[in-house]
Amino acid sequence: MKHLIPEFNEMRKRYPPDFESSLVIPCVRRIQEDRGYVADSDIDELVEYLGVPRIQIEEVLAFYTMLRRAPIGRYHLQVCHNVSCSMRGAERLVAQLTRTLGIAPGETTPDGRYTLSTVECLASCGTAPMMMINDTYYENLDLTTVDDLIAQVTSASTVERAT
Ligand code: FES
Repeated sequence: MKHLIPEFNEMRKRYPPDFESSLVIPCVRRIQEDRGYVADSDIDELVEYLGVPRIQIEEVLAFYTMLRRAPIGRYHLQVCHNVSCSMRGAERLVAQLTRTLGIAPGETTPDGRYTLSTVECLASCGTAPMMMINDTYYENLDLTTVDDLIAQVTSASTVERAT
């Protein structure tokens, strides 16, 4: 994380003094963008840099599901399984992805390429069912379009690395 300190110093200038706790989220987001997840050593260094209690950083990491404490696959597939998506076949999509990738939700393929997750509403209910691959939304999905997407991702790097 130390190489990010100059960036953090720039961010810090935009906040009033004594508002270090407000920097926790932007700092952990940037760390995750850089490393792919937030390691214990990152938390140690951030505690030292910001001078905030460790629990304050741990709380943020525990609360926001988009923040990760461990590495995941290069492509993070997050299938919404909330009401609208469920009613329009989200479970069938998850089953299809599980069959195709050989992993259950919460798992990563042995080659580190894919992580499959089920998530709560991603605010795209009108175009359900949907999923995210890394930061991109894919909507109005069906079994065919999901297969096509996986084929696309497998054959070409059309999606940025998970951040
Ligand atoms: S229920 Fe899936 S996006 Fe809202």
